[in-house]
Amino acid sequence: MKLKSLLKSTLAGATLVAMTSIPGTVNAASNVEVLHWWTSGGEAAALKVLKENLEGQGVTWSDMPVAGGGGSSAMTALRARVTAGNPPTAVQMLGFDIKDWAGEGVLGNLNDVASAEGWDKVVPPALQFFSKHEGNWIASPVNVHSTNWVWINKSILDAAGGKAPTTWEELVSLLDAMKKTGVTPLAHGGQAWQDATIFDAVVLSLGDDFYKASMIDLDPAVLGGEKMVEAFNRMATLRSYVDDNFSGRDWNLASAMVINGEAGMQMMGDWAKGEFLRAGKKPGEDFVCIRFPGTQGAVTFNSDQFVMFDIKEGTDAQKKMASAVMDPAFQSVFNVVKGSVPARTDVPDTDFDDCGKKGMADLSDAAKNSRLFGSMAHGHSVPASIKNAIYDVVTAHFNGEYDAKTAAKELVNAVEAAQ
Ligand code: GAL
Repeated sequence: MKLKSLLKSTLAGATLVAMTSIPGTVNAASNVEVLHWWTSGGEAAALKVLKENLEGQGVTWSDMPVAGGGGSSAMTALRARVTAGNPPTAVQMLGFDIKDWAGEGVLGNLNDVASAEGWDKVVPPALQFFSKHEGNWIASPVNVHSTNWVWINKSILDAAGGKAPTTWEELVSLLDAMKKTGVTPLAHGGQAWQDATIFDAVVLSLGDDFYKASMIDLDPAVLGGEKMVEAFNRMATLRSYVDDNFSGRDWNLASAMVINGEAGMQMMGDWAKGEFLRAGKKPGEDFVCIRFPGTQGAVTFNSDQFVMFDIKEGTDAQKKMASAVMDPAFQSVFNVVKGSVPARTDVPDTDFDDCGKKGMADLSDAAKNSRLFGSMAHGHSVPASIKNAIYDVVTAHFNGEYDAKTAAKELVNAVEAAQ
């Protein structure tokens, strides 16, 4: 292309972009403004599936991304918008945050869509607990993630003996063997929510009853007991396999270390799989997914839901979005890319890879066997105020500020003060 025509077409493109992005030029009635924290490669790829689906129905999308796994920064941005009297159409949200916002009386009502489409019958009770307030549908759940996963680089696993660990002791031996091969055994990002994500799995590995009594029932005797000291000791052991530059590292960069062969494994929710897939990696060939050793059969879950706010204009577009999110075919396509599993029980696992199929089977077995628990780290076991109190102690211990005994004692104090 000649320089002049190149310039002309670039300018035309720029004008077009500028026009569509000037606030006020979108038709509010057929537009959805969506606040979310899906900014990594895998997350953005999944979100694109939803955007394109809506665009196909004539609904335009105003993107409001606020980076930060676990969503704390997104929730701060949301508070500012609602305080200014200008909530977004829909907001990605987790567990107890939904309940908190519902209590403030600022959410919309999706009952007509939900009853027309029979959501009551296909959304499992553990999710409905968060999607409904006082019997009314306020959110549409798009997925179920779980936090007790480990993502292992297959060739590093092979070099370190080839056997995926099933117990804590085997896990530690594998980390040792990986260290000997010269890689960083455990890829991790030092951010409170990531520390807490590992903590979910470590606590669960010491028993279902222990997880429930500490992370859900907040029993002070268990929070400060012997097993909790053991949990913190396990966290310190894991810390010893992390490289020195971990502080502040984003989770997807830790995933990249495993993908690129710089690190052996990452302990992270199944959104990590979205990164592996986006890098063209194949489960079973390039990477291996296992449940955190000692937690097989149990699941700590979190579900991303799109919470619909009470807005002045655009409720038709909002309902179209709610309905699109709940469409069974969409839930399959979206969750295949995202690494999660469908929020509906009637979506076949046909299109999912082996990790996804395992995720779906694990979820349904865990629900049947009463081994399904809300993730503390991702807002599904306790409200944010208590979750943040737990984060503080877990991170302070992970960074060496407390020994295991002090951490267990501080956990009791922090949880009590937050209640
Ligand atoms: C979780 C969320 C996931 C994923 C992850 C990292 O809280 O449920 O969908 O986005 O954060 O950003």
